[in-house]
Amino acid sequence: MVQFTLPRHSKIEQGRHHPAPAGAEKTKTFKIYRYDPDTPDNPRIDTYEVDLADCAPMVLDALIKIKDEVDTTLTFRRSCREGICGSCSMNIGGTNTLACTCAIEDVPGDEVAVYPLPHMQVMKDLVVDLTQFWAQYESIQPWLKADSPTPEKEWAQSPAEREELDGLYECILCGCCSAACPSYWWNSDKYLGPAVLLQAYRWIADTRDEYTGERLDELEDPFKLYRCHTIMNCVQVCPKGLNPAKAIAEIKKLMVERTL
Ligand code: SF4
Ligand code: SF4
Ligand code: FES
Repeated sequence: MVQFTLPRHSKIEQGRHHPAPAGAEKTKTFKIYRYDPDTPDNPRIDTYEVDLADCAPMVLDALIKIKDEVDTTLTFRRSCREGICGSCSMNIGGTNTLACTCAIEDVPGDEVAVYPLPHMQVMKDLVVDLTQFWAQYESIQPWLKADSPTPEKEWAQSPAEREELDGLYECILCGCCSAACPSYWWNSDKYLGPAVLLQAYRWIADTRDEYTGERLDELEDPFKLYRCHTIMNCVQVCPKGLNPAKAIAEIKKLMVERTL
């Protein structure tokens, strides 16, 4: 009989338990994924009991409290703590979201499960490798491209033209949508994914940009764009309430229109 061995680091083990401090008034249990690439150990789930009476309301607040007071080795990304930088994206209670805008009391269930973004290479604990994600972002040339002489004051846009960018410019590139997209899970080396395609459309839709045709040419590829099958996970998880699937559909529509 064939026997398969699971690859190294694919088994998650029971980790350490950190009880609530003495005198804790309102305890909440956090179950956090831990992985240290500097040891041969499998990943583990550590349990931390946090006194919510002595903790600010967001999941990021609890993570910072744990790191400050209980376990300095806990590793995660964060910067702005107000939903602007996109650094603290992770999987909380089974959903990709931002730790800094996710209220502890809104996480369903008795415990708060905190994992890294799914289907991404874990570097340490809650930090995933975004090298490919950023390379894909760079590939769409996310800046204004124009051959017209640079205006003395600014590239003018009418209010209506500016409104075309609503629902696009707000993207903070947290990656929650791409890490929730099944097509991106299976083809992330070739499919650009919802975050990068929304950004691509942000420049295609910008009336000041003069490279629309070239941008569409770049995306005219069976994998880069057409792996989106409108599964809509991206829309469900976006912490900024954006709709990457709609942006992708707009690009596909422009592809068709230019052939007519
Ligand atoms: S579309 Fe939303 S989920 Fe996706 S990267 Fe932008 S802000 Fe994050
Ligand atoms: S709609 Fe497209 S981009 Fe969004 S999750 Fe589905 S396949 Fe991925
Ligand atoms: S810390 Fe910046 S978005 Fe959460």
